[in-house]
Amino acid sequence: MKIHPSILSADFANLEAELATISSADAAHVDVMDNHFVPNLTLGLPIVSRLFEVSKLPLDIHLMISNPERWAPSYAELGCESVTFHLEAAADPIGLARKIRDIGSKAAIAIKPDTPFEAVAELLPEIDMLLVMTVEPGFGGQKLIPETIVKIAQARKALDSRGLSLAIQVDGGVTESNISQLAEAGADVFVAGSAVFRAENRNLEIAKLRELAHSH
Ligand code: DX5
Ligand code: ZN
Repeated sequence: MKIHPSILSADFANLEAELATISSADAAHVDVMDNHFVPNLTLGLPIVSRLFEVSKLPLDIHLMISNPERWAPSYAELGCESVTFHLEAAADPIGLARKIRDIGSKAAIAIKPDTPFEAVAELLPEIDMLLVMTVEPGFGGQKLIPETIVKIAQARKALDSRGLSLAIQVDGGVTESNISQLAEAGADVFVAGSAVFRAENRNLEIAKLRELAHSH
């Protein structure tokens, strides 16, 4: 059970210090948005490149961008632990996943709430992690969409029956009150932005979330 706080809810003027406040996390989740694939704009390669230099945590890159073929390999070249791109944005998801893996990062594919699990089912052997979005991508602090939970269970069932061992990540609206349910459905990597960064003691919150995920 891994907790990846999303720095989307951190203070963007103090990212190095903000990373130090989540030292017990398994990785830092970095949301890259282009105001095209999603209606919001965050940060890109130059900032992530500096973050990588100062971060003691592995970086989990979530690309919410059109034309991920253009940028995803550069994040892998930096040395980011994993690079996630959206199925809905990729022209050649298998080719891109192979490229990311060849460079040396884990490759992951994300699906939006309206994209059915079946759309990604055949690609599972090509990736290291599936990201099931539990909100519409674009903004932190939204409420989890309960209808997305069934996709986590579908993914877990498919992985178990096919003997595949990739991780299932969930992102969007993850809180203390729903994390056990998400773990029960089959998720094992949890992104939490506002839940962690709004907490007074962020490492304590990470420990609580991890504990709740384990005790499902
Ligand atoms: C949303 C981002 C998420 C976001 C999650 O598009 O992909 O990573 O930061 O934030 P919370 O946990 O606040 O929903
Ligand atoms: Zn994200």
